[in-house]
Order: sequence, then structure tokens, then C-alpha cells
Amino acid sequence: AGCSELAGYRVLITAGGTREPIDPVRYISNRSSGKMGYALAREALRRGAEVILVTTPTGLPLPEGAEVVHVESADEMYEAVMSRFDAVDVVVKAAAVADYRPAAPAEQKMKKQADRLFLELVRTPDILAELGRRKERQVLVGFAAETNDLETYALDKLRRKNVDLMVANDVTQTGAGFGVDTNIVTIFDGRGGKETLKLMAKEEVASRIFDRVIQILSNSCD
Ligand code: PMT
Repeated sequence: AGCSELAGYRVLITAGGTREPIDPVRYISNRSSGKMGYALAREALRRGAEVILVTTPTGLPLPEGAEVVHVESADEMYEAVMSRFDAVDVVVKAAAVADYRPAAPAEQKMKKQADRLFLELVRTPDILAELGRRKERQVLVGFAAETNDLETYALDKLRRKNVDLMVANDVTQTGAGFGVDTNIVTIFDGRGGKETLKLMAKEEVASRIFDRVIQILSNSCD
């Protein structure tokens, strides 16, 4: 395989925003459309990888050739990712995972009651941080969605979660982050390296990310 190829590698990608149930008909979620994750899946397939796409419901067409695992909540995503981690070489966590979920989802549809409703939330597992603790040979790529102090927070997450690459997007910039077909990212590696990319299609961002992943995997493609 050449230095742009991923043939023979297994790549797991997470996509979309998790849904945390409040009751059988309601949930807490976020603005992730899944587009970044699906673009990563298509690019990894194009480069010959075996791709597992762990996705929340997005309504996007499923990438042809990927093994697709459907999940909704952060807990379900945690199970889906952890149970497959030993069998993969690369994990890219483009999903926007809720940090909190309702403590005790109601079993029946909740009825209107008082003027105010207090919902108790508890922390979800941090999937990426757990992967960082367990990782042996795998290359781990995280995303950081920030609205301020991008570099500080992204580097903090890179170190805390023990990832190889952190892709940071300032989601307040036009054409970046949630919902759109383009992104503006800065890629940090664990050795002080920093590359800021201009506005480009999510497909192209995905390609730049895999160029770097391949460098880390093969260590001979400079
Ligand atoms: O889906 P799109 O509409 O295309 O939008 C793309 C995107 C903005 C969602 C994407 O580019 C992005 O930034 N994804 C990560 C969003 C996010 O949740 O960032 P975070 O800074 O909260 O989390 C940091 C990293 O830890 C992420 O890789 C996340 O997947 C992971 N994480 C977070 C919390 C948690 N409980 N478990 C995790 O694994």
C-alpha cells in the first residue's frame, strides 16, 4: 500500500449527536448533523479501509461499504465503541456526545404539571477518555468543538484524553462546525505540531486528517 492508502486497516468512526431520553417521546440532543463523521467514513472507504460507522440517527445516506452500527444515547455509543476497540486500528470521534443525561428517564410520557420542571442530569461516560486509557497500538483522533479559547481547550483535551490528533473547530465561525458542508479546523498533534486549515469541504478536511493518520501508522511517509 502507498502512503495515502488505508488498505488493510480497520477504522471506526463515530458520527452525529447523541440523544439522551427524558421520557419515551422526548430527548436532549445537540446540533450535530453527522456530516463530518460521514465524510470521514466515505474518505476512509475511498482509501481502502474497512470502516465501522457508529452513528446516531441523522437522515444522511449511509456510506456504501461501511459496517453501520446504529445508536442513540452516549451509553449506547460507549458500548458500541468499547466492544469493537480491540479489533480496530484507528478511531475517529467526530460525534458530539452529550456530557450529561437525565438521571432517571420517565417510563411513561410525562404530563404537564407545575409551571417549572426541574430535570436532574448526571454525567455520561467520556468515551474518548476511556479509549485513551485503554489504547495500545491504536491511533486515536478526537474532535474539539469550541466557542472560545480554541487552542487552550483543544490542547487540554488532547492531553487529558491521551489522543494522537485533536481536530479543533471554532463552531462560532461561519462555514465551520455543526450542520454545514464545510469546516475550518486546526489539527494539533501530541508533539507541539499545529496546522490551521482554511475553509474547505468536510470531505477535504477528512482527507487531511487521514493523511496524518497514515503518517502515524506507517511512520515512513514524510
Ligand atoms: O455533525 P456535523 O453537523 O457535521 O458537525 C461536526 C461537529 C461540529 C460535531 C464535529 O466537527 C465535532 O467537533 N465533533 C466533536 C463535538 C464534541 O462533542 O466536542 P467536545 O469538545 O464536547 O468533545 C471532545 C471529544 O470527546 C470529541 O471527540 C467527542 O466525541 C468526545 N467525547 C465527548 C464527551 C463524551 N462523553 N464522550 C466522548 O467521547
